[in-house]
Amino acid sequence: MRERIRLGLNVDHVATVRNARGGHAPDPIRASRLALQAGVDGITAHLREDRRHIIDKDVWAIKEVCDTHRAPLNFEMAVTDEMVAMALKLKPHAACLVPERRQERTTEGGLDVTGQINHVGEAVRLFNKAGIRASLFIAADPLQVAAAAQIEAPVVEFHTGALCDAYREQERAVFDRELKRLAAAVTQAHELGIEVHAGHGIDYDTVPFIANIPHVRELNIGHFLIGEAIFIGLEAAVTRMRLLIDNAERSVA
Ligand code: PXP
Repeated sequence: MRERIRLGLNVDHVATVRNARGGHAPDPIRASRLALQAGVDGITAHLREDRRHIIDKDVWAIKEVCDTHRAPLNFEMAVTDEMVAMALKLKPHAACLVPERRQERTTEGGLDVTGQINHVGEAVRLFNKAGIRASLFIAADPLQVAAAAQIEAPVVEFHTGALCDAYREQERAVFDRELKRLAAAVTQAHELGIEVHAGHGIDYDTVPFIANIPHVRELNIGHFLIGEAIFIGLEAAVTRMRLLIDNAERSVA
């Protein structure tokens, strides 16, 4: 039997809707609480440099909700002095290091660990020392995986955006290539002793393919689940996603 894959909900998009009006609703803290009650295993929140969705006080309140539910907070952040200092104060379960560009609509690519090995390595070293699990959000690229191992990152999260886009665009050859690349990178990371997570662009259709890959331990999903919650509610959306993950796991167990 494979270990159960954890499901983390990214609540950034609740804050995006809230901030569109500048008021208090919808509240990402309430979403975090409801999602944990509905069975997600953890909450992810990305405090961007420009504070376009999650703001500082959200992060502290989400941490409190996670602590109350004894659930992990995955604090997503750019590798900047400001965010490293914030994470060291916040002490989340995990800090997911991502690239950040002001012009992008979402996190469009993986972190270039090979190109900034000392810089990222220093953040990982500080987090390892502080007992915060550093997770590097990278492309399914063997060089990036090797660099993650070199700086002793305990976790990598593979960017599944291109894979999921190819599925939606019905680009079969690209999808097959991306899925193979992902599976190979997952095996490589696992053999190097790195825990593997995956996220970005995952929906009901694409989740079975990703959950089927052995050694994937956690999926972090945001935009689709929050969008789906508009139609069927957050609890139902989480329940359906959980079922699809469990069924995918069963099909290869
Ligand atoms: N994981 C990371 C590191 C991300 O940056 C994001 C996007 O914010 C996600 C997971 C979730 O992606 P999506 O919102 O497309 O499900």
